[in-house]
Amino acid sequence: MSLLRHSLVLSILFASPAAAQNLDSLLGRMTLEEKLGQLNLLSAGGRASPAQMQLAREGKLGGLFNVIGAENTTPVQRIAVTESRLKIPLLFGLDVIHGYRTIFPIPLAEAGSFDPDAAQATARAAGLEAAAAGISWTYAPMVDIARDPRWGRIAEGSGEDPYLGSLMAAARVKGFQETIFATAKHFAGYGAAEAGREYNTTEITERTMREIYLPPFKAAVDAGVASLMSAFNDIAGVPSSGNAWLTGTVLRREWGFNGFVVSDWTSVAELIQHGVAAGPSEAGRRALTSGVDMDMQSSIYVDSLPALVRANRIPMAVVDSAVMRVLRAKMRLGLFRDPYRARTTPPVAETRALARRVARESIVLLKNDRNVLPLGRNTPTIAVIGPLADSKVDPLGPWHTLGQPEDVVTVLQGIRSHASATQVLYARGAGIDDSSTAGFAEAVAAAKRASVAVLVLGEREDMSGEAASRSMLGLPGVQEQLLEAVVATGTPVVLVLMNGHPLILEWAADHVPAIAETWFLGVEAGNAIADVLFGDANPSGKLPVTIPRSLGQIPLYYNHRNTGRPFEANNKFTSKYLDVPVTPRYPFGFGLSYTTFAYSNLKLSTARARTSDTVTATVTVANTGSREGTEVVQLYVHDEVASVARPVRELKGFQRVTLKSGESRAVDIRVGVRDLAFYGLDMKRVVEPGTFRVYAGPSSAEGQEARFEVIR
Ligand code: NOJ
Repeated sequence: MSLLRHSLVLSILFASPAAAQNLDSLLGRMTLEEKLGQLNLLSAGGRASPAQMQLAREGKLGGLFNVIGAENTTPVQRIAVTESRLKIPLLFGLDVIHGYRTIFPIPLAEAGSFDPDAAQATARAAGLEAAAAGISWTYAPMVDIARDPRWGRIAEGSGEDPYLGSLMAAARVKGFQETIFATAKHFAGYGAAEAGREYNTTEITERTMREIYLPPFKAAVDAGVASLMSAFNDIAGVPSSGNAWLTGTVLRREWGFNGFVVSDWTSVAELIQHGVAAGPSEAGRRALTSGVDMDMQSSIYVDSLPALVRANRIPMAVVDSAVMRVLRAKMRLGLFRDPYRARTTPPVAETRALARRVARESIVLLKNDRNVLPLGRNTPTIAVIGPLADSKVDPLGPWHTLGQPEDVVTVLQGIRSHASATQVLYARGAGIDDSSTAGFAEAVAAAKRASVAVLVLGEREDMSGEAASRSMLGLPGVQEQLLEAVVATGTPVVLVLMNGHPLILEWAADHVPAIAETWFLGVEAGNAIADVLFGDANPSGKLPVTIPRSLGQIPLYYNHRNTGRPFEANNKFTSKYLDVPVTPRYPFGFGLSYTTFAYSNLKLSTARARTSDTVTATVTVANTGSREGTEVVQLYVHDEVASVARPVRELKGFQRVTLKSGESRAVDIRVGVRDLAFYGLDMKRVVEPGTFRVYAGPSSAEGQEARFEVIR
């Protein structure tokens, strides 16, 4: 049975004229307290507290989040729609980030699939499970661009690239919104936290904001996202939760967004700590008048704003607009008609099959010397080693939501079920961040007895995500020593990484023959990893982020500018370091396969194009290896001369192509010239005439080249 048949496709149309009239008349009947009540959003500890139920009864609550299960959403909804004066239903929010009960790969991993359809499918499935539990609104997708691997929330987004990030954002919005509302967060610039330190200040120029950080939000808005969440950070002293330029000028005026904006957790109250408001009333006034419609968890709107409105310090029209946005959303979601939104849970087997497929697609093979992988089915003995090898908690990643450890297939279980004829030896070796090496001897002994050792190393699930910045990006604890001890046995080693932060593992990159980056893959992690290890699936994932060689290189991202002195090996006075190369260890877009692909014959449909044209790049991709495989063919563009220096490369298109051994195909990727626009000296979007270089290849660091000219 298809998942889609279980979903009630949301009406993307706003309320009909008659319904709109009803909302107008509803607004007309509301007291000021009831209006501000609609803008009040509170967290429940699993179920509504008696005090929250009373607020619902008094019409002083617009929604609750963290109410778990329809058995808990229903009673408080019943109070809202039967006992409150105006019977306005509540919204029920939850952080359904990468799954509700069936946990999918973390968003960063999934971005590496370069498969927006997969992202849409997992979002749809997560939405269906959440809807069955009474949830009407998720705080996802997280669409923050992140260029700093120290920032823990890099795990929750789609990585460093605005183009990939935009496609993933739109896909996830569409997927969720088949049943529940989505929230694009965190608006905006949160991922630019200085030094990767959580909640830190950002300094983002308007151009970088518009070209790098805002596009995924714009894509979410264009995909019909119902809400945005304002971020915790300040941008050059202006907090995002009180930033009229962001929420007013850009979001509403330029983009025409007519959904609603919710604050992040107490980010309205935090305007006081930021130092832009002396107390709650000022904080509330600043946030509301800047365009933050709903106050998550500060209770400031409902408690402190009535007096300000009565004193004419906040125009009633501002309150009314915010209230109408929330009411229209409730109408659009169908809550007035169907407040309990009873849904059935989709079949688990189908959702798990999807989880396994997408997990396989998300794995990035970073290294495979001497074809250590795939493992033969008749490998006599495999040693499975490491603190994450049999972990049932960590593959769930930083946002478990309702994911349960018992649902998780570990790598050890996956390997055992794939290799029934093989003797599998297991040794944990060490804890994730232990200092004890007491388990090393057992691990080394197992490796010595085996024909191959699979080491599953990385981070604990709570070492990334919110409030989980790291200043060092190596393997925590003694895992690096464990790896070195096992490699020293001479048994070939396969390193399987589970992590939310991109890690800097120079020793491993130099000494371990095979490395697979798996991030956190969710409930099907062990099966998907074993599928890849044994070659049932040929890896096709690509890195959605740059992997540096050293911490000192950060921030390091592929779409940087050239500088006036780009790196030259034999010229000291060029942009570089004395002690580390300028290049990353693994570039954005990189990932190997068990087969090989050769690129040739890049041709453009035209040598000259006008702004209104579309240029088609055609490149021949051949599978030159011995097995079928899928390649993510990537297209990058560089604007050679412009009034503002342009990035050395910008991703503008990609395509997943599956080729049999020996097969080759001419792959077409179309780029609208308009999409090559940038923000000029006057901060207006422009495509300037001149030469553009085009690259088509397997990563941001390789590829065939061609050029074309944009003419007036
Ligand atoms: C704080 C986080 O920043 C945000 O992403 C999340 O949606 C809210 N808490 C609600 O849990």
